[in-house]
Amino acid sequence: MSKPSVLVCRAVFPEVVERLKTWFEVESNPGDRAFTKPELIERLKGKVGAFTTGSVTIDAEVLDANPQLKVVSNMAVGYNNFDVPACTARGVLCTNTPDVLTETTADFGFALMMAAARRIAESEHYLRRGEWSKWSYDMFVGSDIHGATMGILGMGRIGQAIARRGALGFGMKVIYHNRSRLAADVEAQCKASYVDKATLLRESDHLVIVVPYSKESHHAIGAAELALMKPTASLTNVARGGVVDDAALAQALESRQIAAAALDVFEGEPKVHPGLLRVPNVVLTPHIASATVATRRAMADLAADNLIAALGFGPNAGNPPS
Ligand code: DGY
Repeated sequence: MSKPSVLVCRAVFPEVVERLKTWFEVESNPGDRAFTKPELIERLKGKVGAFTTGSVTIDAEVLDANPQLKVVSNMAVGYNNFDVPACTARGVLCTNTPDVLTETTADFGFALMMAAARRIAESEHYLRRGEWSKWSYDMFVGSDIHGATMGILGMGRIGQAIARRGALGFGMKVIYHNRSRLAADVEAQCKASYVDKATLLRESDHLVIVVPYSKESHHAIGAAELALMKPTASLTNVARGGVVDDAALAQALESRQIAAAALDVFEGEPKVHPGLLRVPNVVLTPHIASATVATRRAMADLAADNLIAALGFGPNAGNPPS
């Protein structure tokens, strides 16, 4: 039996590609430039599986041009780059990499929240520009983390991990809003209380967005929502760009409607809204919340395992094709 072919759409750990070669003929992306859609369609010809990242869009057009495709395996927990109904309708299995990045992403979300509240990036840039000439009582004053109210929008695995950090590590009061309320024992573990969305926006000193992107969560935070927030509040987004209306946020930061923000994700990334680049009171990072060596390796390994298993191979399914 000859080996089935798969496409690895972006560069990934060479060891992981080698492991895939045990089971498959592997075509890699040599330059790690994101394929254009016509390139992706062309490269997928004859492939039964694709190893993807969040920057690889799998939609009806891609699928219809490649009816032999059986599995798309995303090296990410988020999968809004997949048109899941289109995949389902064509019998294409979609997989993702939950759990392995939960704590790492929560660490980063918490760090970003602290950086925004305590103006760490803004003050560091000031120092590097050589503008620091004296100590003064009101220089870069921010707002406290300990004892403050943290609001979490989207209380899945990562939201819960951020809640635990806030409540158990920093003595924060934690409130959350989610599509559905958590079970009482889970709320107790996170020391988190369920509130409606308007209360979340009004009462949060530090709002953290961890809700997956979907049609329903598109611009869940826009001008109307920002208008409900405290002028001293911070907003942190480690979910997906489209959940926050970046233009409205830039406006709210510029007018000091809210005090600060920290963003790891953007609408239309890697482009960043020019209004966000202009304002000083926002920390901007290039979608790296899961970027530790150990976690990225765990994500890649899991995405490879998913691809192998979904195509009917792996340790419990006999030997590799010769
Ligand atoms: C994820 O896993 O969804 C992260 O955003 C990394 O892409």
